[in-house]
Amino acid sequence: MDKYKIDKYTFITGATGGIGYELALVFAKNNHNLCLVARDIKKLREIKLHFESTYKIKVIIYGVDLTLEKGIIEIYQDIKYNNIIIENIINNAGFGSFGRFHEVDKDKDLTMIELNIKSLTHILKLFIPELIENGGGGIMNVASTAAFQSGPMMSVYYATKAYVLSLSGALRLELSPYNINVSTLCPGPTDTNFQSRAKVEKAKSAKGFMMTAESVAISAYKGFKKGKEIIIPGFQNKVLVYGSYLLPRKLIHKVILKVNKG
Ligand SMILES: NC(=O)c1ccc[n+]([C@@H]2O[C@H](COP(=O)([O-])OP(=O)(O)OC[C@H]3O[C@@H](n4cnc5c(N)ncnc54)[C@H](OP(=O)(O)O)[C@@H]3O)[C@@H](O)[C@H]2O)c1
Repeated sequence: MDKYKIDKYTFITGATGGIGYELALVFAKNNHNLCLVARDIKKLREIKLHFESTYKIKVIIYGVDLTLEKGIIEIYQDIKYNNIIIENIINNAGFGSFGRFHEVDKDKDLTMIELNIKSLTHILKLFIPELIENGGGGIMNVASTAAFQSGPMMSVYYATKAYVLSLSGALRLELSPYNINVSTLCPGPTDTNFQSRAKVEKAKSAKGFMMTAESVAISAYKGFKKGKEIIIPGFQNKVLVYGSYLLPRKLIHKVILKVNKG
């Protein structure tokens, strides 16, 4: 277990369920104070109560829709006003959409870009200067194994994750002189609400190797603590990502289309 961190907080978005909740849990178990963000304030209150009564940590919660710029600014202002020191930023909140590009509801895809790309960028723009001022810290941006290729039937989602992977790789080099580690978490299919929100009908083969959110979070925490650049939880996911470099792009995209179509 890490040493008790007195005044520093780990900031996690999308902490009421799935991978974000499990990440919050593993950070709580390792004595990190937490700033948790999601829309469902009732769930956040339950998590705060549970974590503070079980672990020796403090938990601050923000019930905010991150697709609204105003909400992000309010969080930032509250953190500044209360002199809360953010040590780690984990940009996890995100969702996907499923279907042919021209058939998926326009507003759904635009909202996804707002959350997966714009809110993540906005949070980093506001908080990176704080990390620098505080002498360093860590950032973990949640992308996906989807970040490495194009994704027919989930085209916008895959593209948003490519953005996260690309941005994180650049920030890693820019921020290393400031003692800030940047990791990108790239989970493969994981058993959470993600699939139903995206209305994804994965092929049976994909369902067969879904990981639990808990195992993804444990692997993420270990990788983050080691300062790894890219964290791909699960052996099969690693084989799929690195193996895909050996195959022609056209073939990879055909396979992804088949898997995504179910
Ligand atoms: N599951 C997978 O197969 C998989 C694979 C690779 C990568 N990922 C990535 O992992 C991350 C977490 O996904 P997950 O599978 O854990 O999904 P999830 O179970 O649906 O959880 C998403 C979390 O984000 C929050 N959230 C959603 N919209 C939000 C908004 N507008 N503002 C603030 N919070 C919002 C949700 O809480 P509220 O509803 O309370 O707001 C929830 O806490 C995402 O970035 C996803 O792209 C998932």
